[in-house]
Amino acid sequence: MTAAKPASRPNVPHFSSGPCAKRPGWTPEKLNDAALGRSHRAKIGKNKLKLAIDLTREVLEVPADYRIGIVPASDTGAVEMALWSLLGARPVTTIAWESFGEGWVSDIVKELKLKDVTKLHAGYGELPDLSKVDPKSDIVFTWNGTTSGVRVPNADWIKADREGLTICDATSAAFAQPLDWAKLDVVTFSWQKALGGEAAHGMLVLSPRAVARLESYTPPWPLPKIFRMTKGGKLNEGIFVGETINTPSMLCVEDYLDALGWAKSVGGLKALIARADANTKALADWKAKTPWIDFLAADPAIRSNTSVCMKVIDPAITALSPDAQADFAKKLVAAVEKENAGFDFAHYRDAPAGLRIWCGATVEAKDVEILTQWIDWAFAETKASLAKAA
Ligand SMILES: Cc1ncc(COP(=O)(O)O)c(C=O)c1O
Repeated sequence: MTAAKPASRPNVPHFSSGPCAKRPGWTPEKLNDAALGRSHRAKIGKNKLKLAIDLTREVLEVPADYRIGIVPASDTGAVEMALWSLLGARPVTTIAWESFGEGWVSDIVKELKLKDVTKLHAGYGELPDLSKVDPKSDIVFTWNGTTSGVRVPNADWIKADREGLTICDATSAAFAQPLDWAKLDVVTFSWQKALGGEAAHGMLVLSPRAVARLESYTPPWPLPKIFRMTKGGKLNEGIFVGETINTPSMLCVEDYLDALGWAKSVGGLKALIARADANTKALADWKAKTPWIDFLAADPAIRSNTSVCMKVIDPAITALSPDAQADFAKKLVAAVEKENAGFDFAHYRDAPAGLRIWCGATVEAKDVEILTQWIDWAFAETKASLAKAA
């Protein structure tokens, strides 16, 4: 038996977890004012970079005494800059529950070769016991684990009077989940996630305590120019007013300004969070009426509202080997892609088999709902062809 194809397609069939869907209404003409062919150090370039920082502060509600910098190499660049510049001064606790978090642990242990490291780990779909975190240590964690769809529920587990710094990779959380700035000393993200901007530039937000560490501690290892935030023991303040370390793309800057303008126009952070929540609710509603699908994160309190990861729980599929289950998920996604009804929503390569559907603010709930109809169709088709082949 084959299911009927749904009557309509999503208006925008983009559900990738990065680069994410452009904001509704985006066209290349929105970038007509880009300062192309001009120096980023000229007044026009500097003003645009400064505006990107100011609007980031406004939309994300970053405290006035936190520095915000635009840095090279996207979120990875911003995280590495922080790890290499700040760590080594005291013990470190790493908290990881999926691929990206594990990647930072690996850098800390194998590249920086820090010895006094306490690792709190959990598998895909779960969160480690956050009450075990030692507030005397520096803490490195990812706010939203993009590859498992698990996020921290809040920052209540971080002490207000902590001695260490908290370094938080918030790239798939910023602009979609509330960040508790008072508990965060370093926050990083990129432009291409929840605002659907262009890739390659990273954002680095520093608390006054993080700045104090930078000005009082020099790591024992060499720092490449691209990571250096201090000059003669003092913070290089220029980075935090738009004097970037090296050359940014003014086309990407214009696009980020457009995304921030859109974010403001829909109602700012609260509205962005509400949009992501509504998109995720469309998936929860689908799950409630669909016996063969479930969330990878069983606990709704830690379930992401951006990178929503789901698993197929049909007994005929769960009986298959992990490789065959991954193959099934990929075929299902490919069937939807072939119909131009949804792209890039298969599980991350290291994560358990299933679907990962981006639900950030630039996605429309109606499109998520239509996507689920196509997934229903593709599931029936893929399962039928599996039975035929057996
Ligand atoms: C949690 C997390 N950290 C880091 C990265 C890497 O980001 P970028 O490619 O912007 O460096 C990603 C990308 O998906 C991510 O989801």
